[in-house]
Amino acid sequence: MARIIGGIATTHVPSIGKAIADHMEKDPYWSPFFKGFDFVHGWLKLHRPDVVVVFSNDHGLNFFLDKMPTFAVGAAAEYRNADEGWGLPVYKPFRGAPELSWHIIESLVDQEFDVTMCQEMLVDHALSIPFELAWPDCDAWPVRLVPIAINTVQHPLPSAKRCLALGRAVNHALQSWHGGERIVVIGTGGLSHQLDGQRAGFINPVYDRFCLDNLASDPDLLTRDSVRQIVEKGGTQGVEILNWIAARGALGDLALHEASRNYHIPISNTAAATVILEPA
Ligand code: DHB
Ligand code: FE
Repeated sequence: MARIIGGIATTHVPSIGKAIADHMEKDPYWSPFFKGFDFVHGWLKLHRPDVVVVFSNDHGLNFFLDKMPTFAVGAAAEYRNADEGWGLPVYKPFRGAPELSWHIIESLVDQEFDVTMCQEMLVDHALSIPFELAWPDCDAWPVRLVPIAINTVQHPLPSAKRCLALGRAVNHALQSWHGGERIVVIGTGGLSHQLDGQRAGFINPVYDRFCLDNLASDPDLLTRDSVRQIVEKGGTQGVEILNWIAARGALGDLALHEASRNYHIPISNTAAATVILEPA
């Protein structure tokens, strides 16, 4: 049986990639954020996962507004990054875990989550930036990938309740996987931010704290807000918390311990946070 070691949730702001490319990790603007990854590096070295299941949202690199699946699961042998126009390097390819992907897809459909299955998928900064943060300076990524894309871009979005249920269904799939891989679940994006409109620059530390304080112990509490209420509280792009909520669901219903937490305002326009959750 696969072993779920724990979960990492983190921000995916593109300018982090620029800071890494320019070796700015120790710069006073950046260091309060990058310091949060010292613990992550040690934790990953200790636990050495084989596979990561990543919940994130595509921002227009793979899916565009004309065709936007609510939930999509990658089933490719390899995933590539491409230029999104942020001035970032194009990141090295990501090795897939297609057999596990198909197992998850089959299990999800069996559980009545009728997901889109993608045998080709580009992955954008929502996935590449967390990889760069977690495994800096490696020649090849040391883990295989199952990407799960949640629509947080084109309304109507799935509810937080549905995203938590999706994550729980992924947990159910992982519990019945025959392989012996060590699996880490990752959720990316958030926390509060709004990039456009009259409230551009909006950040809400009170709502962020509510999410951080309850994610491990009572994730259902985060699902009481409708998407509209989440937008009001967390900003138009703060709805990326849906990826964190799904990732939390995929960790299952065992008691969890928050092994580390870093919260820093702002990185670019975003309240940046990184947490590790592991079985208590
Ligand atoms: C920013 C944040 C995001 O989540 C994103 O996808 C792009 C940009 C930002 O704060 O600049
Ligand atoms: Fe984003």
